Amino acid sequence: MQRLSRAFAKINLGLLIGQRRPDGYHDIETVFHRIDLADELLFEPAQGIAVDSSEPEAPSGEGNLCHKAVRLLQDELGCQHGVRIRLTKNIPAGAGLGGGSSDAAVTLREVPALWGADLGLERLEALAVKLGSDVAYFLRPGSALATGRGERLEYFDLDVPYAILLCTPPSRVSTPWAYRQIIPGSRRPSSSLRETVIAGMKDPSLLPGTVVNDFEKPVFASYPEIEGVKQALLELGAVFALMSGSGSSVYGLFAGPGAAEEAGSRMMERGCRTALTPPHFQPGVHSSTSRP
Ligand code: C5P
Repeated sequence: MQRLSRAFAKINLGLLIGQRRPDGYHDIETVFHRIDLADELLFEPAQGIAVDSSEPEAPSGEGNLCHKAVRLLQDELGCQHGVRIRLTKNIPAGAGLGGGSSDAAVTLREVPALWGADLGLERLEALAVKLGSDVAYFLRPGSALATGRGERLEYFDLDVPYAILLCTPPSRVSTPWAYRQIIPGSRRPSSSLRETVIAGMKDPSLLPGTVVNDFEKPVFASYPEIEGVKQALLELGAVFALMSGSGSSVYGLFAGPGAAEEAGSRMMERGCRTALTPPHFQPGVHSSTSRP
């Protein structure tokens, strides 16, 4: 039997960064939201663990987060079953979109089913946190307010009535590097981001200055071309634009898909990869299908 599944990308609709904690992570507050951009993962039983990625630079062995996820599942289930994962990458890496994390979450959900096992969501969530701060988010559907190091999640339904144009310039930003640029104690998460985002979906004039990404300042200082992408989106008619995660992607909200498509063509001419999410997009968690 084979299982085919899609792993959606997320954007951060706002990201506030607080104190660096004794464990080395930072307390954050962010709203995660899925967009219409997904990797495809095909799982089939095999001897041992193999991950074949369409992206030649992606690590295929132990360094791949899907590989690590399978190892954790073997330990948790006390088994030595194997799996081959064929990964078709559409989500750019190092782009603030959680692609590797989403792939790992889908692996955690799909591989036990392939092996005829059921771990339950709570055990999967405990494994997800070992793989990375934002992996757990991808296990359940919906948007979520994330706090702690990003693993404390409160899911909620968020209707985004705008077309979301995502633009990823060729620059890649390292997340650990970006966290090191944050001045300690410069901001305390405020616990009002979710409300601000919800209000901003009805009245976009509320978004600038209230829905912010604390990574923008240090990342723009070192990568002015990413700030250029944000400026270009605003000039092309976005009602709001913000960098996602630690970059390099920037999203723009557009009143209609036509304006967003037009802006997308211009941004491609500028060398960006683009992805367009229609208004009111709701992907569910990740659709999977079984094949004999
Ligand atoms: O958890 P994840 O592997 O995604 O994090 C990558 C790196 O980003 C961490 O090793 C840490 O340096 C930094 N980080 C942080 N605070 C967070 C999340 C990540 O400092 N909340």
